[in-house]
Amino acid sequence: MTQPLVLGIETSCDETSAAVLRGPHTILGQVILSQDAHEVYGGVVPEIAAREHLAVIDDVSDGALRQAGVELRAIDLFAATAGPGLIGALLVGLTWTKSLAFALNRPFVPVHHMEAHLFGTAIDDVEAVPPFIALLVSGGHTLLLRVPAWGRYELLGETRDDAAGEAFDKVAKILGLGYPGGPHIEVAARSGNPAAFSFPRPMFAASQEPDEPDYYDFSFSGLKTAVVTRVRELDRTQRLTDEVPNLAASFQAAVIDVLVAKTMRAVRATGITRVVLGGGVAASRALRAALEAVLPAGGRLHAPSPRLATDNAAMVASAALFRYRAGDLGMLDTTARADLPFPGLVRALGAGERR
Ligand code: KG4
Ligand code: ZN
Repeated sequence: MTQPLVLGIETSCDETSAAVLRGPHTILGQVILSQDAHEVYGGVVPEIAAREHLAVIDDVSDGALRQAGVELRAIDLFAATAGPGLIGALLVGLTWTKSLAFALNRPFVPVHHMEAHLFGTAIDDVEAVPPFIALLVSGGHTLLLRVPAWGRYELLGETRDDAAGEAFDKVAKILGLGYPGGPHIEVAARSGNPAAFSFPRPMFAASQEPDEPDYYDFSFSGLKTAVVTRVRELDRTQRLTDEVPNLAASFQAAVIDVLVAKTMRAVRATGITRVVLGGGVAASRALRAALEAVLPAGGRLHAPSPRLATDNAAMVASAALFRYRAGDLGMLDTTARADLPFPGLVRALGAGERR
């Protein structure tokens, strides 16, 4: 039997993306349009994001179909991100896609953005299959999961304040680097010394025990404040410009140290040595290298291909196929939610009572 043709649409933040997949692993066409209207503000402006999605969604979708050489009426399944994300932005993609699906009398599948990031890694890497430990790190979320099977997600840890990507974006802004911050910090860090400044490793101490509340959790806002304090001192003495690479390298090292340490705690506690990275921060080569360096023999790191790390619609289409086969179809009244709960997510045994 031939695999179904899926049209996926992603508009949860500032990328408008459409992709046509045949089955979960074959991308026939994909367009990702990053909105640069936000650059001058150093962050995403929700109202501008929604308007831009609306202005380009037709062309973006046509582009993906054209690349794929597929007519709209040949699509078997329509899928869009339903959350979490910016509500106005989400509503544009979800409503547009849902309308098409119902007009053409095809199934519509709403998709959770972070579950999509997990499937995004598995598109090009067919060995990224459960059981695995997942580290999902994006601009809005930082999640450490044990994944015994697709659709079953045990939450080990999450951020108590800023997400990892958000910390990169905020620190880049403080350092006068561009948006999104992660890639700019990674480039600046290459010519800096990661030991130049000793920034805190928040919520990480070697003495923590597995039954302590913050054993697997993350916190990045104090680290950001530590960078701000340093930046102010250096600025007062006119040394800031020279120190940007050292600040970037030292900050990046602090974030990566904590991400790696907590992921390794999960690996040791569960005995699962397959680790799957997902989300925009998974594009970081420094993070990948650091994780690869500490995985035990026989362990493997699965990271997304560069075009599938940051927001894209192929991951939405791939996750939708799984959800479709699980019977999770959208209805005419299905809507977007800024705080959509992660489907199938439960607090890992023991982790709940600790709070
Ligand atoms: O998944 P994503 O594209 O959008 C959200 O769902 O939020 O993730 C975007 C985040 C941004 O915060 C960006 O700074 C970060 O991913 N990012 C990186 C790198 N590339 C993107 N962070 C660190 N290092 C990178 N190379
Ligand atoms: Zn994302």
